[in-house]
Amino acid sequence: MPSAAVDIVRTVHDLREKVGSWRAGGLTVGLIPTMGALHAGHLSLVRAALDRYDRAVATLFVNPRQFDRLEDLAKYPRTEDDDAAKLAEAKAHLLYAPNVGEIYPEGYSTNISVSGVSAGLCGGDRPGHFDGVATVCTKLFLQSGADGAFFGEKDFQQLRVVQRFVRDLNIPIVIHPCPTVREEDGLALSSRNKNLTAEMRTRAPAIYNSLRDAAKRLLDGNAVEAVMAEGTDKIRSAGFEKVDYFELRDADNLQPLDSLYPNSRLFAAAWLGPVRLIDNIAVTNS
Ligand code: PAF
Repeated sequence: MPSAAVDIVRTVHDLREKVGSWRAGGLTVGLIPTMGALHAGHLSLVRAALDRYDRAVATLFVNPRQFDRLEDLAKYPRTEDDDAAKLAEAKAHLLYAPNVGEIYPEGYSTNISVSGVSAGLCGGDRPGHFDGVATVCTKLFLQSGADGAFFGEKDFQQLRVVQRFVRDLNIPIVIHPCPTVREEDGLALSSRNKNLTAEMRTRAPAIYNSLRDAAKRLLDGNAVEAVMAEGTDKIRSAGFEKVDYFELRDADNLQPLDSLYPNSRLFAAAWLGPVRLIDNIAVTNS
């Protein structure tokens, strides 16, 4: 039997009314911000929200301010009916799917910009990207008044940016990091994977495999610089045209590291044809 449809609201007014009625009844609310094209990674965030809160609200908004390239925005998958069906199946309570004018009305002029953790990695390669993410997430948090919000560790730099502005601006919301969900061959789930051809898809796991090999080489005591160069080469020789970065960073403040510390994390971004894939892993023995 198909699940009952998920309720959809499209305005701040309707979102607040719905969340307000839950809160008035003593219920807590978890938020899952998304840009749609939902996959098992997003649905794991819905499950995590349902485990911790009484109500789970997913958002679907393809945020133009976080795209540095117009072609990327234009080809971003838009699959609202399918997304709503998946959310219903996952037992989310509400989908907030505003249009662009609801989020950025005529005359909109405010930008949230986070320094430090936004520097380098995707912040270096995609100018303005994290300002766009921080701005829209600030709005989604304030519009919904949710108690908690769920973010996948696949977008680890995004997670750190969100944690930073929430602390800096005293926004009363708890940020819950959730582990990356992977395909069997290790490829991190991403809405962008839909843009890979079958041939590219066979090459795509090289990004994760190179990160794992690099973690092992670092734990075996090899020099960071040499291991980063090897990682980059491995991704290129698997058929990726361009490696944007392959780096070791501190997992908390995201500063670059030139030797291995207890809280180190490896980050990579690379292009397979027109598709930019990113991934990251902790460097630990476990
Ligand atoms: O990770 C995403 O899908 C987006 O960056 C987010 C957090 C929904 C903000 O638009």
